[in-house]
Parts: sequence; C-alpha cells; structure tokens
Amino acid sequence: MPITSTRIKTKDEYFSHWQKAHEVPQDFWAKAAENFQWMKPWSKVQSGDFNDLEIKWFEGATLNITANCLDRHLETRGNKTAVIWESNDPNEAPIKYTYKELHAEVCRFSNVLKDQGIKKGDRVCFYMSMVPELLTGVLACARIGAVHSVVFGGFSAQALAGRIQDCQAKMVITCDEGFRGAKTIPLKSITDEALESCDTVISVLVRERTGGKITYKEGRDHSLLPLIKKASNDCPPEEMQAEDPLFILYTSGSTGKPKGLMHTTAGYMVWAGYTFENVFQMEENDTYWCTADIGWITGHSYITYGPLLNGSTTVMFEGIPTYPDAGRFWDIVDKFQITHFYTAPTAIRALQACDINLVRKHDLSSLKVLGSVGEPINEEAWEWYNTEVGKERCPIVDTWWQTETGGIMITSLAGVTESVPAHATYPLPGVNPVLVDGEGKVVEGNPADGNLCMELPWPGMARTIWGDHKRYKETYFSTYPGKYFTGDGARRDAQGRYRITGRVDDVINVSGHRIGTAEVEDAINEHPAVVESAVVGYPHDIKGQGIYAYVILQPGQEMTAEELTPQLNELINKIIGPIAKPDIVLPVSGLPKTRSGKIMRRILRKIAAKDVENLGDISTLLNPEIVDEIKNGAGL
Ligand code: WTA
Repeated sequence: MPITSTRIKTKDEYFSHWQKAHEVPQDFWAKAAENFQWMKPWSKVQSGDFNDLEIKWFEGATLNITANCLDRHLETRGNKTAVIWESNDPNEAPIKYTYKELHAEVCRFSNVLKDQGIKKGDRVCFYMSMVPELLTGVLACARIGAVHSVVFGGFSAQALAGRIQDCQAKMVITCDEGFRGAKTIPLKSITDEALESCDTVISVLVRERTGGKITYKEGRDHSLLPLIKKASNDCPPEEMQAEDPLFILYTSGSTGKPKGLMHTTAGYMVWAGYTFENVFQMEENDTYWCTADIGWITGHSYITYGPLLNGSTTVMFEGIPTYPDAGRFWDIVDKFQITHFYTAPTAIRALQACDINLVRKHDLSSLKVLGSVGEPINEEAWEWYNTEVGKERCPIVDTWWQTETGGIMITSLAGVTESVPAHATYPLPGVNPVLVDGEGKVVEGNPADGNLCMELPWPGMARTIWGDHKRYKETYFSTYPGKYFTGDGARRDAQGRYRITGRVDDVINVSGHRIGTAEVEDAINEHPAVVESAVVGYPHDIKGQGIYAYVILQPGQEMTAEELTPQLNELINKIIGPIAKPDIVLPVSGLPKTRSGKIMRRILRKIAAKDVENLGDISTLLNPEIVDEIKNGAGL
C-alpha cells in the first residue's frame, strides 16, 4: 500500500503532475507533504529564491524525520523487515531488523548519544565501514536533532580531520577496522591520527567489527555495542523545525577544499520520500537493494531515508562486488530475492568485463526494476545491464542527481515512463531544468545542447555550504545569475528527454566518485620535487573517467613516470585517500598556458583522451611548442 497519494501511475499522470508542480508548486508540495507526519503544520510551503538564497520549505512546521521513518510504520508494518544487512563474508549470517526492532535499536543508540553529552544541533561525524550501526547511528542523530556528517571510510586521516574541523564535530563514531573484500581498513587508527588535530571532539564511539588490535584513549573512547545493549529503548523523537539542519555531507568541487553541503529536515524528507516512491514504484512486499555506501549521498537518500520513509525493505551490504568473486551481487540478489536493484555504471562495467557465467548461474528472476546512478551510463553497459541482468523485462531508471540536490532530479519512472539507453530522460515534478549556452542564454526548443541549470528551488536542495553561505552563492548561483548551475552538460532530444553528457567543470567522476582536480593538484604539489601540476580526466573503460596528471619537476630532477608515480600515490593516499590516485602520471617540462598564465586544460584533456587530431587553435598560447613535447611524452 503506497503511503502517498501523489504516486504517479501513468505517463499522462507524470506530465500532468509535472505541470501542476510547475504552475502551482505550493499546492503540489503541500499535497505531497500531507503524506508525512508533522508535529506542527507549516505556515508557508515555500519562500526564498535563487537571488536571495534564503530558501525555506514548510516554514513553521515541526517534525522529526525518524518518526516518519520508524514510529509511523509501527502499527501497520511493525513486523515487516525494515533492514537486511549482508556481511562482507558470505558465510556470516545476515542481520535483519523489523521496523519494531529498528525503532528500538535507533532509540537505544539515541540514548547512548545523549549519555555522551550530544545535544540537538551538535555535529557527529561517522567514519565507518558499512556496519548496521552506520545506518542506525545516522538515524539516532536525526532522532535527537544532532547533525550527522558521514565521511566515506576510504578517505585519509588528513581528509577526515579537515571535515571534522570544518563542521566542529563533537563526536566521532568509527569501527576498530572495516572489512572490505579480502582487506581490512584500520579505521580507528586513522581516526586517532585525524584527532591529533581536532580539538572539538570530546568522545569517540568504536563499533568493534574485526576484533583487530586498537587502543582506547581513556575518557574519550568507548566501545559502542555494550553501550547500545544496555541503553533504554525509550527515546521520544526531538521536535525539529522544518529548516533545522539534518546533515552535512562533504563533496568535491572545481576549486578549493571539499564543501560541506547542508541539508535541512522537512524539505529533504519530502524529497527523499517522494522521489523514492515515484522513481522505484515499489510494492509492499518488494525488497530493495542499493549497493552504494552510506558515506555518499546515494546511501543517505536511497539506502536510509527514502526506503524507510516509504516503509520499504532496504538491504545494506558491507562488502564489494568482487569478493569472494565477481558473482557476489547476483548471489545477493538471489539470496534475498531482490526486486529493485540500484547500482553505479562503474560496477556494471567492471562486472561486464568478468566471466558471464558468474551472472548466468544465479537466479535473477526476482528482479523487477534496475537503477543506475553516479555517472553517465554508456550504451554498451546499459544494454548489458538490460539483457544480462534484467533479462529484458526490467525497466532501467537512469537517475541523475547530485549531493547538492538531495535526491533524484532527472530519471524515468520505473514502468511508467520509458527507459531510453544512456538517457536520464524526464525531470521529476518540481524539477525545472534549462540548458544554457556559454553566455548563460537559455537554449530553447528541442533538440538542444547546453549547460544544465535549474530555474526554481525544489524541496530537497542543499540550503548552504556549512559555515560559508557566500561560497554557496558563488559556487552554484553566480555563473548564471538567478539559476542553479549543476556543473554538468546535457542534451535534450526531440521528445524533451535529457541525456547527461558529464561534467563541464574541473570535477572528474572516477568510478562514480566526485574528485576535484584542484584537490589532486594541491596534493601532488606538496611533493618536494614538483613545481606545478595539472590534473584532468580521460575516458576509462571501467571507471568512466581516469585521472591523468601532468607534472612539472624542479630543474635537475630527472624522475621517470615509474619512479614518480608511487611517490605521488603515497602522498595522495595521505592527503585525500586512495580513490584520488592518478592512473597516469606524465612528467613534462611545461604546461600549455594562455598569455594570462592560465593552463589550457582543454588541450591537456584532448591529449589525455588521445584525441589529438583537432587540438584547435594553439597559436595564442604563451608556449605553443610545449604541445608537441607533451604529445611526444604521451606517446602520441
Ligand atoms: C554525475 C551522486 C550522468 C553528474 C548522486 C553529477 C550522473 C555528479 C548521473 C554528482 C547520471 C550522477 N547520469 N551523470 N545518472 N548521476 N551523475 O554528488 O556529473 O556524488 O554532477 O551525487 O555525478 O555526484 P554526487
């Protein structure tokens, strides 16, 4: 039984809902919001715009998102499975929580947080692997009004420290170590290292997972599970204002350090709940699995909040797609009779490259809907997903969205609007995309190409960058004044359907992870032998984009790429984390620059892509001769 009456069931309805949300957004979102539980009603559905940037949704209302994720379902779905946790080790028994059990668990965890002195508004940082307590912990924060900030367990101590300092977290919740395939990640010792430079943290909770040797700092560190076990399961949800912060999530941009996007309570809730319901079109007894990590926005909105707001069964997986073998995803689909499966193109491409029998030997007949997220899905991967996984009977939803957008923005609706290979297709109701040219002029008509912007606020959008509203304004709303600029390019076909072509700024998307080229350059430039560097993305068969680093060495430093690469990798591991390691390092004697000293990245991107036929006009460069030298160095 769907919760909301705003569920779209036909393509005609989709168009009429979109129209209504466009013409009378206040009425449309008031209706959608009625399907949630509020403590006090709102006085105004929406205020603020892309000029004043004082955007508010459901002002005056009070609520608690966990009352909507948990308490609200107790009567009708108390004994339904809410969460299934699957271990990294296929032989370890899964953990299942019914809605009743999840509610009790979250309440106990909430009481642990309170006992440790965490109060409404305090920031709590999570640095964990995919253990059940990452999900229950995030909800526990939301229950008591603390602001969660999850940092993906693959970031380095320095990256973690930067995030803890930026949001001034009072607590860090971590694991002794995390399992990741055949490896373990020393999360607690990385946390210890990070905390050497973080003086706001008064308490650390450690979820023991591997039993690996760690040290507990007297007075600061506590073992989490025993505390949860003895805590009371009575914890009424805190009454939150609609615009109270719910979480901060850091993501990379084209310049500067990672930005802490802040999402607030009511708008995010309505958006996560509404989009999950309409995009995936689940039925009551379906089982949904999103393979993301809760350290990314996908895991926030579509492992945790979206499914639970809808009373669905959500699966969380601790491991990786290739452990113990590359059939693991399909083994899990079969094991839990997954109906809705949501993953990233990079995983699809990696599995596509493996023995096809690893797919074919598993029973995938439970599947009804497939999803894709995180990066453009190429047609070949789309076709393989459709044929080998979906057996040509499952609609594919290619969902385009961002950390900033809070939830899905452009996608087909499963079984309702058509799936088109490599196309995200239609904007959801409330989403008003436009394509603009380089000058910011809106490109009208179909088909069209341009930079993807949004014209109007939607409930799930991030409200600010934590502690830096000016940067929020400059980053997203100043390129094309009055519009939100996504950083992506897109094409609209003759039917008005969108195809996202990829980032047009200096962000690269490696295996679905957003990496700012400037961040990688800053890390590389820390190397004593490096004068300057330029990092660009290039097409990579599995990762979508690979990282290509051009590096100028100090005079007299004669290092080859082979010598330099491991040293740079070590540095990047330390400063950012292994996800930002370059695939290719090329020592060069100079970089192509304009007369004003700006690096011509366009040329570097073309060389990295081995597309040197048409480099465009290079005669205006300060140093045109460098182009041939770099081409030679790159073996072209
Ligand atoms: C890219 C992930 C094409 C895009 C939810 C965006 C996509 C960035 C798609 C956001 C898609 C995400 N098709 N590109 N279906 N989904 N992207 O913040 O470049 O980690 O700007 O959010 O991923 O990445 P983020």
